[in-house]
Amino acid sequence: MEIELRHIHKYFGPVHANDDITLTIPSGSIQGLLGENGAGKSTLMKILSGYLRPDAGEIRINGSPIEMHSPADAIRFGIGMLHQDPMDFPPMRVLDNFMVGYPEGLLLPREEARQALLDLSAQFGFSLDPDAYVESLTVGERQQLEIVRLLWLGAQVLIFDEPTTGISAQQKEKLFAALHRLADEGKTIIFVTHKLEEVEILCDQVAVLRAGKLVGEAKPPYDLDALVEMMFGKVVTKGERVSAPLGKPVLQLKNLAVESHRIRIAGVNLEVREGEVIGLAGMEGSGQRQLLRACAGLIRPVEGEIWVDGHNLTGKPYHDFMRHGVAYVPAARLEEGLVPNLTLLEHMILADEQRGLIIDRQAALDLTKERIKTFNIRGRPHSTIESLSGGNQQRALLALLRPGLRLLLMEHPTRGLDMESAIWVWQTLKRRCREEKTAIFFMSSDLEEILHYSDRILVFFSGQVSEPIPATETDIEQLGQLIGGRGFNTPEEATP
Ligand SMILES: Nc1ncnc2c1ncn2[C@@H]1O[C@H](COP(=O)(O)OP(=O)(O)OP(=O)(O)O)[C@@H](O)[C@H]1O
Ligand SMILES: [Mg+2]
Repeated sequence: MEIELRHIHKYFGPVHANDDITLTIPSGSIQGLLGENGAGKSTLMKILSGYLRPDAGEIRINGSPIEMHSPADAIRFGIGMLHQDPMDFPPMRVLDNFMVGYPEGLLLPREEARQALLDLSAQFGFSLDPDAYVESLTVGERQQLEIVRLLWLGAQVLIFDEPTTGISAQQKEKLFAALHRLADEGKTIIFVTHKLEEVEILCDQVAVLRAGKLVGEAKPPYDLDALVEMMFGKVVTKGERVSAPLGKPVLQLKNLAVESHRIRIAGVNLEVREGEVIGLAGMEGSGQRQLLRACAGLIRPVEGEIWVDGHNLTGKPYHDFMRHGVAYVPAARLEEGLVPNLTLLEHMILADEQRGLIIDRQAALDLTKERIKTFNIRGRPHSTIESLSGGNQQRALLALLRPGLRLLLMEHPTRGLDMESAIWVWQTLKRRCREEKTAIFFMSSDLEEILHYSDRILVFFSGQVSEPIPATETDIEQLGQLIGGRGFNTPEEATP
């Protein structure tokens, strides 16, 4: 199915999110869509999938103009979209979620649906249990569920909005294999991303948006530097590795063991010093998150001790950790970090009330304006959190962190951020290390990020934790091997 977008315009108040976009996407190909945070990618894709109405412009399928008023319309035309933030219903079972949106609704025999789910999953090498609850699935598995659901509904065009931000390397491989297969079958794939290497290995052609406009298109072999320049209107580079001078110990872990229903890590001994950045590498679900959460008092260790600034906080609640200058930034920004429907201003008030600082609304408004400026958030004090683009939500989360922290624990600090924003975020984080002596403990699935910004690295492999590795003494290749289990004890089921 060939898709043509012609002169698409979309405004949100004063924001011209899509500004005269004309783009043709050939049938049976994988079309990349690149662009900085807030460039208008998700908006354009929501228009193409019936979630938003354009203010002007036309969509054509195989040359004929179509009218869509809802996602259900779009799927009738064969267009389905996987969203940047999962839109499924966690308290439901996989099979019930799979059946959502099926036109015959209740009349559909469950057994038939179950079989279709199993068959489609098998075709793509996904393992989805129809009776599992959606909330027990990983982000990658939820995606797989959404893919088979859309295919079952008859999607010929599948739109993926930053699908690789929350999934493991293995799931990414599976996803890419599935995408190639779909394109081979003649389906049209649109793939929204910030990552140039993904465009390079996956896309048959790419379009680049900047500030609402289509600024260029390219085909392989890609000139990556040229693509970066198109995205940002200038050359962007990471710069040299920098480290802050290290001070006295902030965090001490003594023979720590942490357990969750999925994984157990044990025997962790570590001292993190003022200004130090420790990166946690490993496949998603190897224990990094449990360790981070234990260090914030969000889960209780089963053994060992956690000391912050010379205070034994073992077994104490998050609140006590907070009082000692510990802060936690979760990965699921809309589920744990930010509150949907609340505005930026309201978030700022909430975050500050815990410190008892804000006395009046005017002060809050001024503070919010100042943070919006410092953190370069595209939005206004009265913008709700959901109206911000994904990258701007992440900036908002970082803007809520108070100054003068002792220890900052972060899951995926730059997830969903474009290159320029990611660089900027790390500049502000490193400034905290340097000027406020904050220690940072973070996990990321981006090995380059870990290597470039950490002083020392811990590698996790199915619950085992490596000795800290100085970042200057290792490289991507070695880290990659460690993450895959090389050098760890490998009990029978542990090999990936
Ligand atoms: N519902 C909305 N209400 C108000 N403004 C919106 C809404 N949705 C998007 N915007 C604004 O439109 C612009 C484009 O947003 P969009 O989500 O399309 O960007 P994006 O390219 O997907 O960015 P990201 O990479 O950060 O996800 C942003 O300035 C955003 O704040
Ligand atoms: Mg987006």
